Formats: sequence, structure tokens, C-alpha cells
Amino acid sequence: MDRLYKELENYSQTDYYPFHMPGHKRNESSVDGNFPFDRDITEIYGFDNLHHCKGILKRAQENGAKLYGSLECFFSINGSTAALLSAVSACVKRGGKILMARNCHKAVYHAVYLRDLKPVYIYPQIERELEINGGITPGRVKRLLEEQPDIQAIVITSPTYDGIVSDVSGIARITKEYGIPLIVDEAHGAHFCFSNYFPVSALKLGADIVVQSLHKTLPSMTQTAVLHRCSDRVSGDVIRRFMGIYQSSSPSYVLMASIDACFDKLERDGQRMFQSFVTNLKNARERLEKCRHIRLGTADMIGNAGIFDFDRSKLLFFTKGTSLTGHKLHEILREEFHLEMEMESEYYVTGITSVGDTGEGLKRLCNAIEEIDRRETLKRIDERKRDIFLDSSPYMQMKQIMGIFETIESAVTKCLLEESIGKISAEFVYLYPPGIPILVPGEQITGQFVRNVRRYMEQGLDVQGLCDYTNKTICVVGD
Ligand SMILES: Cc1ncc(COP(=O)(O)O)c(C=O)c1O
Repeated sequence: MDRLYKELENYSQTDYYPFHMPGHKRNESSVDGNFPFDRDITEIYGFDNLHHCKGILKRAQENGAKLYGSLECFFSINGSTAALLSAVSACVKRGGKILMARNCHKAVYHAVYLRDLKPVYIYPQIERELEINGGITPGRVKRLLEEQPDIQAIVITSPTYDGIVSDVSGIARITKEYGIPLIVDEAHGAHFCFSNYFPVSALKLGADIVVQSLHKTLPSMTQTAVLHRCSDRVSGDVIRRFMGIYQSSSPSYVLMASIDACFDKLERDGQRMFQSFVTNLKNARERLEKCRHIRLGTADMIGNAGIFDFDRSKLLFFTKGTSLTGHKLHEILREEFHLEMEMESEYYVTGITSVGDTGEGLKRLCNAIEEIDRRETLKRIDERKRDIFLDSSPYMQMKQIMGIFETIESAVTKCLLEESIGKISAEFVYLYPPGIPILVPGEQITGQFVRNVRRYMEQGLDVQGLCDYTNKTICVVGD
């Protein structure tokens, strides 16, 4: 079978001379640095066109649909971001109402802004033990759909950045009853289909659209993602139209070939690769669970706070009750052990593992965590912060006063963060990662929000979103 990545490799060995884009002319000496110019082509003869595909790119996407068992698979070279923008735009008419989990990624909020949608938020429950977002439950979805019959679609994130999986099957049963599409942001779950050690993918549980970032948990280049259409409740033509709008008209062949190579490898060798990965991961988890102070997130959380399942490929190290913050633990791992983690939060650090990991890499992490855990300075301290948690969670319920589009497009002024309490924010604020807004344009700023932002900054967490990068001022509506 002709595979895009192989055709590209073959082409790079030929003597065809490019009187076409890109300007590097596949000449590696045209600039310093080591870039894959030899296979960085444009829509030349024989290589199809992603936005009007009839040949090799059509077949590459069909391979993706076959591999995952979807009706149609769309390649995205602008990550899950473009796929989510397209999914939301395709499912909800301009100005329409969408039910969305409040812990959605900022891409979903941007779709709401661009299409002037009316969001109805559903807050995930909070897992009080670990102080992380739990799941979205079918019962709450049903109640909101009953109350607001003009909702046109629902979007949830499952798994979350922390690996928390909601009851997608239960939610899908309800959305079917109400005849509206269910979009699942499975950006962190592209690996689910390849081993039953991981949760069942939303693709098999009745979701209508599933978005997956290949680059997050599979061997594929950064920016590569797919949108799967899984039912006829959503039109493929409309999705195609939006994917054409939100993506470049010159999609990178290097990135598309990377998707194709990833799928080819999984098809041929996925079973063996995942067996070995899961064996290494189980060994690592077994060691890490024995730590006395640093606590590993385990499947024990299932059943609490709407948590239906948990992705064991995510290694969450909780520092609550020790003398460390998440930031401090990350700093030690980076500086002393040369281990760079995915995310740090107030009380935990997240490591992403994948089929690309080596047994050696996982052992290095286990050795480091065990060594830190043995340190005298780490001994358990009073759970002194526990009582303030209810107020200080980043994902507090906020009061929405105005719509996102209306707020961003209205007259705004800058004011000192300390003086903004009670005013309406005209900006997003989020911790990055994970890029989930803790404040959305149109929401009222609270004293607790301001105190939280100050505390995150003192802890060295990355607060983003404000146009003032020092986070001293915020744009608010009116004077
Ligand atoms: C839950 C979730 N959805 C979507 C995205 C966006 O994905 P991408 O970076 O592939 O555009 C992210 C990125 O971190 C994410 O965490």
C-alpha cells in the first residue's frame, strides 16, 4: 500500500528540481540548522491536497478511520485546537447554545467566542482527597438538557490533563435521547484504543465526534491531531468546511507524513509496542506506589467525584502534606535529576508516559522519586492548607454576567488586579498548562480569584491570558 511518509521519502531521493514553494527549495544548505527540508514539499503532482483530497491524503485519512473504527478521520496539522474549533463550529449554529464542561481547554472557549455561542457550563465535581477535577456525570447532563431544550451540542474533556475519564457511555445515551451531538475532547487519549490497560475510548462509547492529539501520547510530531466523526448526526461536509477554515492552506507534509507513519507503525507493530510499554509502566507504578510521602495517583480515585475511569499512563505525584509544593518538586526533578515533567500544579506534578518511553527512562523517574521521598526534609507536615481548599481551588464557580463575544468586543479599560474585584473581566486567565480558563470574559472577578492569582505567582506557576504579562493589571468592562 502507498503510504504518504514512504512516498515522501522516495521523492526526496529523486532529482526533481523544485520551481515551487517552499522557498528553501529542499536545499539543506540554504539555512543553518538541521531541518527536514528534503521532504518538506507543497501540493505538487502526486501528493494530493488536504483541503480537496482525492488521492494519497484521502487514503491516509481512510487508514486512520479504519485503525480507530470511525466513520471519517480528518487530519489536523494545527493540533486538537483546530479540530475542536471545527467540531464546535460544525455542531452549533452561530449564536446557538452549547453545554460545555467548565474545565474545557481554551480552544473550546475560542470557538464559543468566534461563533458568538451561548455556553451553559457544567462544572466537574471536585475530588476532595486529591483536590483535582473529577468527572462530568450523566445525571447532571440530563438535568441541564431537560431545563434548556435549545442546547444544540455538548462538549466534555475526557480524559482530562490529569487522566480523569467521565462516564461517556452514560452521557452518550442521554445526548442520543435528546438528539444532539456529543463532542469528546480526547486530546490526551489517542492511545486508549491500543491496550485494555487504558480506559475505553469515547470512539467506542457512543460519542459523535472524538478529537485526539496524536502528538501528546503517540509517536507523532508536535501539532499532529485527528478529528474522528463517529455518527451521521454530524455532517462530514460541514466538518470539512471548518477544518479548511481553521487550518493553513499549506499544511505541512512533514506533519501529515508523521501522522501516516504513526498509524502505519501502530497497525503493524502496535500490539508488541503497547505490551512492552504497559509492562514497564506497571513495574514503575508498583514501585512508585510504595513511596511514603509523595503520593502517586492511582485507580483508587475511581468511583469518587464522577470519576468513571483513570488513565494509568499519567503519573501524578501529589505533595500535599509534605514540605514541597508541586513547583518545588518539579524544580528538584529538573535540576537534580534532569527530568522535565509535563505539568506542575499547586500540590502535584504530572508526568506523561507513552509508548515512546524506554524502560530506562521510567527507571530514572522511579529512582528520582524514591530518593526524594526518602529525604528527611520531606517528612509529613500538618495538613495546614486543607481547610482553605474549598475557597482556593482554581476551578471555583464563577458568576457569568455577560457573554464571551459581547464582552471581548465591548469597550474595556485596564485596572489594577487588586482594584478589579467585583468588575467584569474582559480577558481569559488560565494556568498554563493545562490551559483551562480559571476566569472567562464576562465573569465577575472575586477577591478569592485575585488571592489565588497572587498565590500561584508566588509559587512560580505560570499564569497566562492577560495582555499584561506581569499580571499586575487586567482588562475589565467599562470604566
Ligand atoms: C484537554 C486538551 N484539549 C485540547 C488541547 C489542545 O491540543 P493541541 O495542543 O493538540 O492543539 C489540549 C492541549 O494541551 C488539551 O490539554
